[in-house]
Amino acid sequence: VKPDGTRVFDLTMQSGHKEFIQGKKTPTWGFNGDYLGPTLRAARGEKVEVKVANRLGEASTVHWHGMHLPAAMDGGPHQMVAPGQTWTPHWTVDQPAASLWYHPHPHGRTEKHVQRGLAGMFLLDDERSAGLALPKTYGVDDLPVIVQDVRFDGAEFDHGHRLMSDTGFLGDRTMVNGTLDPYAEVRDERVRLRLLNASTARVYAFGFSDGREFSLIGTDGGLLEQAVPMERIRLSPGERAEIVVRMEPGEKTVLRSFPPRDLGEGWQKRFNGGDDTFDVLQLRAHRELRPSPQVPDRLGGLELPDASDAVRGRFFGLRTSGINGRKMDMARIDETVTRGETEIWTVRNEHGTPHNFHVHDVQFRVLEVDGERPPAELRGAKDTVFVPGRTTVKLAVRFDGPSDPDVPYMYHCHLLYHEDLGMMGQFVVV
Ligand code: C2O
Ligand code: CU
Ligand code: CU
Repeated sequence: VKPDGTRVFDLTMQSGHKEFIQGKKTPTWGFNGDYLGPTLRAARGEKVEVKVANRLGEASTVHWHGMHLPAAMDGGPHQMVAPGQTWTPHWTVDQPAASLWYHPHPHGRTEKHVQRGLAGMFLLDDERSAGLALPKTYGVDDLPVIVQDVRFDGAEFDHGHRLMSDTGFLGDRTMVNGTLDPYAEVRDERVRLRLLNASTARVYAFGFSDGREFSLIGTDGGLLEQAVPMERIRLSPGERAEIVVRMEPGEKTVLRSFPPRDLGEGWQKRFNGGDDTFDVLQLRAHRELRPSPQVPDRLGGLELPDASDAVRGRFFGLRTSGINGRKMDMARIDETVTRGETEIWTVRNEHGTPHNFHVHDVQFRVLEVDGERPPAELRGAKDTVFVPGRTTVKLAVRFDGPSDPDVPYMYHCHLLYHEDLGMMGQFVVV
């Protein structure tokens, strides 16, 4: 912390080796280490500054996914950091408590940079969340759960795409926080899991092996108004969910990913991972558990735009070949929005391939999925939403930050193979 109160973080992108499999050294990339990066944490109202150093052999960027911040600090493809260089973005945290994350965003190479290990969590706190009786001791009853699918070829990662899949890379096993066959020892009656789908293409439907209920307390951009009891939560790449699960003394359960719906039909579903089950994380409760308070009835106060304030609509047609028929062009601004105005964005998946839709700088409200009120897990703050084949979602968005006619933000499919192919567009806020 600097004298003026700015919280300073150092992040160095570097290459290394990690022994995922005993006796085998896998070449990796990481932030400040061999694989993944430190969990950054700041509170609403704080000034933050990150010194992003690049010690890789190629240029990259670091994007703050879910963060409300000026476009020039966003770490999109226009804020490249050359090898040997340092980039120092800074901003003031001005949004509710949330589980955000960071990852590279170099145009055309994001999949590769994330797969090699560049990703980490960025947690935000606020006064309201600090006062709630939720599990909140980091690493004890409040655990980051970064889920990635991987495939190994001997000691090396195998990042090849399956021939028949049109979604991109799909691994044959999963890791949590860079660990294969992970387990967590639980000493409290209730544990909070901050789930992040940091995989590049795989969609998960998380639940527990014994079918137990859990409470969904938060989505991409923060806490829900009320906790929702659930048995399954689907997360597409880039999405987060905070859940609280209750344990009995001495028992074990497994966070599992069950076959997700809406990944196509027949062979397409199979090759897109729609038949796959993974044991993601085992929870092992101690014989004695410290009591935890019940999850409170009321959680956050949603700060989301209202559809009734909308002054304009925009349409985004998704195809693997591009958005609204165009591939990403670094030199073209696709949309210009006016700061402070609420808009309705209609996002339509125009073919059968699964996609999702992520918007930089904001948390949006999901108004409709195919004309219906969205399910509970889509009623909170979202920055990324799954858009299955031939499905339409409607979003209420509003950009409140400073205007900057010269530096764009991105919107894109967060299946990183698709993003790299050009399923991305740029908008400026004026
Ligand atoms: Cu998580 Cu534009 O990305
Ligand atoms: Cu983002
Ligand atoms: Cu896509």
